[in-house]
Order: sequence, then structure tokens, then C-alpha cells
Amino acid sequence: MSAAEGERQRYERYKRAIAGEPMPCALVDLDAVDENVRRMLAVVEGLKATVRVASKSIRCAPLLKYILGRSERMKGLMCYSAREAAWLSELGFDDQLVAYPSVQRADLAAVCAHPDRISIAVDCEVHVRALADAAARAGVVAKAVIDFDPSLRLSGGRVHLGVRRSPLHTVDEIMRVVDRIAAEKSLVLHGVMAYEAHVAGLPDKNPFAPLMNAPYRAFKALARRQMKQLRSDVFEALSRRGLGGLLYNGAGTASADVARTEPWLTEVTIGSGFVASHLFDYYENLSLVPAAYYALQVTRVPAPGFVTAAGGGYVASGGAGREKLPLPALPPGLSLLPDEGAGEVQTPLRVPRDVSLTPGDPVFFRHSKAGELAEHFSEYLFVRGEHVLERVRTYRGDGYVF
Ligand SMILES: Cc1ncc(COP(=O)(O)O)c(C=O)c1O
Repeated sequence: MSAAEGERQRYERYKRAIAGEPMPCALVDLDAVDENVRRMLAVVEGLKATVRVASKSIRCAPLLKYILGRSERMKGLMCYSAREAAWLSELGFDDQLVAYPSVQRADLAAVCAHPDRISIAVDCEVHVRALADAAARAGVVAKAVIDFDPSLRLSGGRVHLGVRRSPLHTVDEIMRVVDRIAAEKSLVLHGVMAYEAHVAGLPDKNPFAPLMNAPYRAFKALARRQMKQLRSDVFEALSRRGLGGLLYNGAGTASADVARTEPWLTEVTIGSGFVASHLFDYYENLSLVPAAYYALQVTRVPAPGFVTAAGGGYVASGGAGREKLPLPALPPGLSLLPDEGAGEVQTPLRVPRDVSLTPGDPVFFRHSKAGELAEHFSEYLFVRGEHVLERVRTYRGDGYVF
């Protein structure tokens, strides 16, 4: 069967699955999730590193539970909000690393309400002080994880090629924070983390900017060498102080293979890879199965060769580019119009000759980013084969916008 025929069959299958559902609606294909779990686990097969699931790329508690339940290798969540982590603790999740620091009292109180289950990232004196104070107020010992920056830096830091998040770039800077945490009775150092966003976030098979693919691959190879050295040096420095057994987190969907060459990583983080939003189509080293779609209803036929669907303007965050638009995926061959893109309440599409769509038919889109889809829907339809197995609430559906 050709790829196009496979996609036509997928369209018919999903169309049958959601027959009678009010649109817009969003579905998660559990068979595709299972396959992505298998492919992502293959990346770390034979290694000791476990997989921490990035909640920001899922934002649906039942789907997080489903993914964690697929394998013993999955251990814990990486959360994007302290209050989210506390809510998940109440739901029974038992290992949440909040990977983005906060100094808000409400956030730190939420962390300290579940000191055994939640740890939180820190990268400076202000974070350490605020967390230590919150833990002292709560009468607990809070778990701190030092987040350092593995960006590519040249000429002693004058050239910075990477993201702007943590200010910690050298072993000495990181060890000073280790000492600060050790000086606080209400804190314990739980581990270190360093996410290579400049590698994992850079598509290198991007059809929207093909000339950049080769330079980006060269850049990534260089960046990987430098970050490996830094993470190794940090591990040695920690080991010299008897801290070699702590949590060491790194990587993301598009860079999980670093665990193969960096044995000090005790875990890699993966989120988007389980859902395979379309941004992850544009990486040379990744092959995933699209697992999440949203369906819009065709409501108008403005001219032969076009249809207009209701809704659809779910554009992704981050640096703006065409890859952040939703992708009209099914039936195959649809395309957005360059002047209109994905519209707030109406999305026109160009339709290939061999596709026939009339008002009432669904068209299926993929979001560019995995977690953001859940911000537009209060429920996901869990689909297997051509049946809706279950409807589950997203964070939005649970009433949360973290
Ligand atoms: C700290 C951190 N680790 C890992 C990831 C990887 O997440 P994903 O697998 O969804 O790309 C992210 C995503 O932005 C992140 O911020």
C-alpha cells in the first residue's frame, strides 16, 4: 500500500471513529502512542537511564498515566508549573520535577506541600533563598535540582549559541550553587539538569527552510561535543564531593540519543515524541507516528478546489515561522492558503483534485506543538482502530490553565 493510500484509509478510519461527535474535537490514537513509546524507548534501550515524561507536551492527566503505564522504564514527570505538580501529586503521581524555577510564594508552598514527591529547579541565589524560606515556613526539607545551561559558548562566553534561561555555564558557577544549597538546613540537593534546547529545538530536516538544514546539522554536532564535555565535568565535580549518585536529567524528544554517549545521565526527558506533533517531522534522526489530531468541520465550499472549515487557528508558541502553523493532514494533500493561514473562526483549504469534501465532512489537522493542542480542547477522544474507547479530560477540561 502506498503512503498516500495509507493516509486515505486513516482519514476514513478517523472519520468513522468521530462520526456524530460535535466538531471541533481532538483525538489521540492510542495505537500510534504505543508505537511512539516503543520507538522512543528503543533510543535508550540497554542503557540505565530512565525516561521522565514531559507533562507540558501532554497536558492531560489520563494520557500521562497511560504513557507512564506503558513501561517500567518510564519514571516520573517533568512538570512546567509547581501548582500543576501539586495537583498531580493529589491525583496519585509520585515523582514530579518542576523544571522551571519560581519565586512565587503560592508555587513554593505547593512544592513544600508534597516534599517527598516534588522537586524544583533552581539556578541562582534568589531561587535558593525563596525555596529555603518556603520550606522553613512549611517545616519540611525541600528538594532542589540545579538547572544549568549547556548552550554552545565560544570566546569565553562572548558568543552564546543557545537559549537564555539558566545563568549557570561553568562547573565553578554550578558548584557555588551546590554549596549554597548545602548551607540551607531546609534544602537538600536532589540532582542537576541541563536541557540542550539549542539542539533538541532545532529542526534539521525542515522543508520550510531547506537551506539551513546542513548548517544546522554541523552546528548540532559541534554543540553536542561541547555539552558532553560540560555535563561530564559537572558529573566529575559532583562525584568528587560524593554526589555522583544524584539525579542527572538531560535531553528531549529530538536529542534523547545523547544518553548513549553520556552515561552520567540518569534520565532523559521525553514528551512530544509520544504524541508526535508535526514539528517533530522535521528532524533527521526521528521517525514517529502522528498520534494526535483535531477535527474541524467543513462548512463551506467557496470555489471548486477549496473548502472552508470552521475554527482552526491553533498556532504554536515560540519564534514565529510557518512550521508553527497547524498542518492540515487528512485527507492527504490539503494545504493552507498562504494569505489566510489557520483562521480564528474559519480556515480555508486548498483541496487536491482527487479529494471530494462537502459541508459536514471532517478534516483533520495536527498541531505544531504537542502540549498546546490540549489548551484548545477540554477533552481528548482516545481512539483505537476506528472506535472511541474513552473520553478523557485535558488540563483545560479539569479547569486548569497552568
Ligand atoms: C527542560 C526541558 N527538558 C526536556 C524538554 C523536552 O520536551 P519534549 O520531549 O516534549 O520535546 C523540554 C521541552 O521544552 C524542556 O523544557
